[in-house]
Amino acid sequence: ITRGITLRIILDSRGKKTVEAEVRTENGFGRAAAPGGASTGIYEAVVRDPSDAVSDATIQVIPHLIGVDVSDQIGFDSLLHEIDGTGNFSRIGANVAVALSLAASKAAADSRNIPLWQHIGGVFVAHAPRPLGNVIGGGAHAPYATEIQEFLVVPTGCERVRDGIFANARVHALVRELLTKRGISTGKGDEGAWAPPISDPDAFEVLSEAADIASDEAGFEISPGIDVAASQLYDPESGMYRYRDGRLRSSEDQVTYIADLIDEYELVYVEDPLYEEDYAGFAALNRETGNRCLICGDDLFVTNKKRIQDGLTQGSTNCVLIKPNQIGTLTDTFEAIDIAQRNGLETVMSHRSGETEDTTIAHLACAFNCVFIKTGVVGGERTAKLNELIRIEESIYERK
Ligand code: PGA
Ligand code: ZN
Repeated sequence: ITRGITLRIILDSRGKKTVEAEVRTENGFGRAAAPGGASTGIYEAVVRDPSDAVSDATIQVIPHLIGVDVSDQIGFDSLLHEIDGTGNFSRIGANVAVALSLAASKAAADSRNIPLWQHIGGVFVAHAPRPLGNVIGGGAHAPYATEIQEFLVVPTGCERVRDGIFANARVHALVRELLTKRGISTGKGDEGAWAPPISDPDAFEVLSEAADIASDEAGFEISPGIDVAASQLYDPESGMYRYRDGRLRSSEDQVTYIADLIDEYELVYVEDPLYEEDYAGFAALNRETGNRCLICGDDLFVTNKKRIQDGLTQGSTNCVLIKPNQIGTLTDTFEAIDIAQRNGLETVMSHRSGETEDTTIAHLACAFNCVFIKTGVVGGERTAKLNELIRIEESIYERK
């Protein structure tokens, strides 16, 4: 039963203000912070200015949440929806909502004296998810860098997730070496990936070379993937994807372009290859390549079960990206994962480009049996999650 709730403003990894919530029960405590995106989908729950949202919620929301049973997560989250009354959290702010919802779940776990992943349903969890992390990037996360937002690696062959985490970090270091050798500068983007001023084909080349070296060293397969974040490339006026070299691609051209990339670079994961409305374009690509590559919807689905249902109806993807702050509560996050998994889609738990030291998604990724956790490779706000994953994996193994 909640005794006290505090909201405050803290900093995220970009130096922007964000919301942190603390929930206290008689014998439990939970704290969680809202992350923030840069290439946000238009259908995401509405984030409000943190300072305004916190001062409003302190008066209008918190009093309704005192004396509430945090062990009833569904009840807690429906109360948040009820107080908000808009369906998309535009009144209380999705940043306030997600911080409160996750802090409540952590207070509930703490009251039971167990880790969050176990509280949420860890009895049948046998493995931690493999880490999917970006080592080169541009797009909305770094200016004058690559056009595709994220060049990712995932240790598809690792036995222990811990070793996969170290292997990704090795790829990240090797990418820097290879870029430096070519005389290319190595600033970093918002998520800690290198943001070199190079073309996408050059980025693919460096990525493959680094992944091959790291694979040989580690003794297991490390595979490449991308997040195109194609909503950022789409020009609604022409209905085309507009590339820097002046090239315009129709939806069909884009599908062919991405399918060719999947073949050429043996990509195992492609996120948002088409813009956020193009269910049919996604479906065309998924039909062509879905048997050998995960086609994942981020901006397309925004962790929203109705949009995932639309994707299922059209066969748009075989994978769903899950970002709790896109939808605002843990219950809504679960429902999105549930509809995806019951219909045979893989799920990937994800950070945002603006992050804090909060490690909740590491627990959610394990509890919900996600295939991957996408949370970068280096940088304190990323390694906070990865290091928590190492600890969780250890306790999963110890339990066996
Ligand atoms: P965002 O982007 O967190 O900046 O919105 C990350 C992504 O597109 O996956
Ligand atoms: Zn994305």
